Amino acid sequence: MIDHARFLRDFPMLSGKSMQGRPLVWLDNASTTFKPRSVMEAVDRYYTEFTSNSHRGDYDLCYKMDSLVQESREAIARFINADPTEVVFTSGATASLNLVAFGYGLTHVKAGDEILLTQAEHASNVLPWFKVSEMTGAKVGYIPLDEEGRLTAENLEKAITPRTKIIAVAHVTNVLGYIAPVKELARIAHRHGAILVIDGAQSVPHMRTDVKDLDCDFLAFSGHKMCGPTGIGVLYGKYDLLRETEPFMTGGGMNAKFDMCGDVNYLQPPLRFEAGTQNLEGILGMKAAIDYIESVGIDDIREYEQGLKRYAVAELEKTGMAEIYNAHSEAGIVAFNVKGVFAQDAATFLNSRGIACRSGNHCAKILIDYLGQVATVRASFYFYTTREDIDCLVDAVRHGKEFLDAYF
Ligand code: ALA
Repeated sequence: MIDHARFLRDFPMLSGKSMQGRPLVWLDNASTTFKPRSVMEAVDRYYTEFTSNSHRGDYDLCYKMDSLVQESREAIARFINADPTEVVFTSGATASLNLVAFGYGLTHVKAGDEILLTQAEHASNVLPWFKVSEMTGAKVGYIPLDEEGRLTAENLEKAITPRTKIIAVAHVTNVLGYIAPVKELARIAHRHGAILVIDGAQSVPHMRTDVKDLDCDFLAFSGHKMCGPTGIGVLYGKYDLLRETEPFMTGGGMNAKFDMCGDVNYLQPPLRFEAGTQNLEGILGMKAAIDYIESVGIDDIREYEQGLKRYAVAELEKTGMAEIYNAHSEAGIVAFNVKGVFAQDAATFLNSRGIACRSGNHCAKILIDYLGQVATVRASFYFYTTREDIDCLVDAVRHGKEFLDAYF
């Protein structure tokens, strides 16, 4: 249930002040999210009650840590309807996508094969594939977006070829906020013998994600975009595919034995991919974040954010000052420019009013050509965002003439 009085109690940052001493209006949730006290307490408990390593000691504290790590893995698995053996801890969505690219991509594509992306992808879902292309000779291609900026199943049908081996796309894009039809994309990919890799950084925190129903092959997401700590993330992979994935990093905690001749036996997934001491406090914080989101209700979150999006678009349009690039997308993200004002100048003016919005290309550097805009302002919401926050943004946009560099 969306209960702002509760959120105000639970999230200290919601009572925070901007650097100018104004009430902080946080509209950069696609970048990162605030954390509730329960997440901070979970992290704190690691330092005050449970400090130890995991899988490395024969004493109670270490066993306790092992069981807490497992509880977190199980909570994440339940949250996305996966098996716990399919949940790999990473440092974030970027690390997860790199693990798929270098652990699976490198050994499963060759010269002449094709990796399909879209122009709307974040750098984390483009650059690792460029590297794989460079190292293997496989080609990177792009599924065309439709005239609104959406990825459609029809366009995948047109773009896919017998050479396509990997399709890697965002479930929700980080600038325009369109939801990709993942289930249909998976069906098409599999019919053609390709796998579907999903960047879930902007979707998992905001909408129900059922990997079995979606039938995606890999899914990457971060803790910090869903009220969790930074430095913790997840790679979900179908177990059979994880077994075919090479460990991207090797070291302690991921091998069963090795000898002087270089013979190594790796542990089974997911531990095979968790070399070195893990971000244990992050793992505990991630569980607390999932518990919190579940206590609010992921379906309520989705519905509420969609309402906020409609409200923001309608109010921004009323000002006559905003050019909006994604009025019809489903996620709680509005990408816009104030007419005649460069995006960074607009964001600087918003900042002077205590409003935090991201501006620029948002790491989606090849979307620029599609949009025909070098930069946009992005306001992005989460379940604790209020209509009053949006009213502050709209009021600032209405005063567009005060923006630096305005040329009216
Ligand atoms: N991926 C984050 C964003 O879109 C940082 O802002």
